[in-house]
Amino acid sequence: MLQIKTDVVIVGAGLAGIYTALNIDSTKRIDIVVKESLVIANSNLAQGGIAGELDFIQENIDLHIEDTLKAGSYLNNKEAVSVLVTEASENIKKLIAYNIDFDRDKNGDILLTKEGGHSTRRILHSGGDATGKDIMNALIIECFERKNIHIHENMMALELLYKDFACFGVSCLDKSNKSIQFIAKNTILATGGIGNIYGSTTNSDIATSDGIGMAHRAGVKLENLEFVQFHPTAFHSEITKSRIKFLISEAVRGEGAYLLNSEGERFMSKYSPLLELAPRDKVSQAIYREMYDTWTDHVYLDTTHLDEKFLKKRFPTIYNRLKLDNITMGKNLIPVSPVQHFNIGGIKVDLNGLTNMKNLYANGECASNGVHGANRLASNSLLECIVFGNRIATDINRKTSENIEFKNNIEQYKTYQYNYKPIKRKLGTIMDEYVGIVRTEVGLLFAKKQAVDIEKNLIKYPNNSKPYYEALNMVQTANIIINSSLNRKESIGCHYRIN
Ligand code: SIN
Repeated sequence: MLQIKTDVVIVGAGLAGIYTALNIDSTKRIDIVVKESLVIANSNLAQGGIAGELDFIQENIDLHIEDTLKAGSYLNNKEAVSVLVTEASENIKKLIAYNIDFDRDKNGDILLTKEGGHSTRRILHSGGDATGKDIMNALIIECFERKNIHIHENMMALELLYKDFACFGVSCLDKSNKSIQFIAKNTILATGGIGNIYGSTTNSDIATSDGIGMAHRAGVKLENLEFVQFHPTAFHSEITKSRIKFLISEAVRGEGAYLLNSEGERFMSKYSPLLELAPRDKVSQAIYREMYDTWTDHVYLDTTHLDEKFLKKRFPTIYNRLKLDNITMGKNLIPVSPVQHFNIGGIKVDLNGLTNMKNLYANGECASNGVHGANRLASNSLLECIVFGNRIATDINRKTSENIEFKNNIEQYKTYQYNYKPIKRKLGTIMDEYVGIVRTEVGLLFAKKQAVDIEKNLIKYPNNSKPYYEALNMVQTANIIINSSLNRKESIGCHYRIN
């Protein structure tokens, strides 16, 4: 079997992985393992922007901290929130130095927008609504220029390599199903979201919870997986019935759009004094209630009181996508509904991104450092990737790692062709129905029974293939989400229990 020895192996090439790589000393060899191609990470889809105070004005820093805590129902780790907000400026300035052109006004000042739960305008954006794509494009170019960074596309990470609870890298499969081991002094999981566990999601279709699955099988601590965030306004297209839903950024409401129910009534005043700019958990729960009461599967985003020219310039990606469905922003109502969007809990890490396994770090959506509490504040996720990515890099840069030898102790299974799609589809239906925005004990127990059966069957017939490991990662994470949801009896943040 091929073994590659390296200083750092990073699994995942979204912002959490790439930004961390760029901040690690260029004297260290870094290998980035990417499941498919570089350009389809979730980070590319981020529209709204990146929240952060560029100037150190104590009052604004305090407000960002308070908004983050309030959105998270104060279940956040306060120290982590303080790190997130106070270290935003130095890291956003690094992004600017990597040639990311945040949108500016005529005088060259950075334009700032607002989203749900933010008390001030503090969100930077790029290309109007193409923030994630613009950031990723610039950082990937930078990565290609670094001789110490080696990118391996179409490489599926399967299992962590570890001994005596110290991590030594990951075992992988390349696209022709050949086994490769990356033997690393430091391993970073940055595998992104869990979206495809659900029937509908805003995530890209590679988001199958691979990092959480691998960490779970190695006995690494996880936390807070009951907190699954549903974005209130995914586009409810009548033409394209894809399970991957196009996002209508919360920034559209930040620029003044309203929510209307199917009877044309603006309803948010019934649920929050912050109206359409209440935190995301409250807005999704309100929409769910309105859909239930009016027997429909969507509500509307109303931009008809806003100027079409402004909307077209401010939200070019959204404007052009809606045009494909013959919807014109500023003229027509936009059908929307809440779908799975973000995983708040994950692999438990400290303030340097370190897990409870020696030499194993995690960053971004698969990690849980406690910044989001019970519900994430909009546009804090890209910020989390860079602030904690920088901290992981600093931790790795300052430590002296001993050379390692590692002998393969991973069981090799046979590879055979099997179609796991029906299993994945079944799991999605269960999760949407019983582990969604509103949860009940009976529903969760029903979901548990079915998801446990799926997991048992998968484990009985192990298979050395990418589809098998994706299905395994998905169902194992689903079972952890269901158990955590059963254990948390009260409603808080995005975990809403009616009994
Ligand atoms: C959005 O633009 O609404 C999504 C941004 C986020 O998830 O924070």
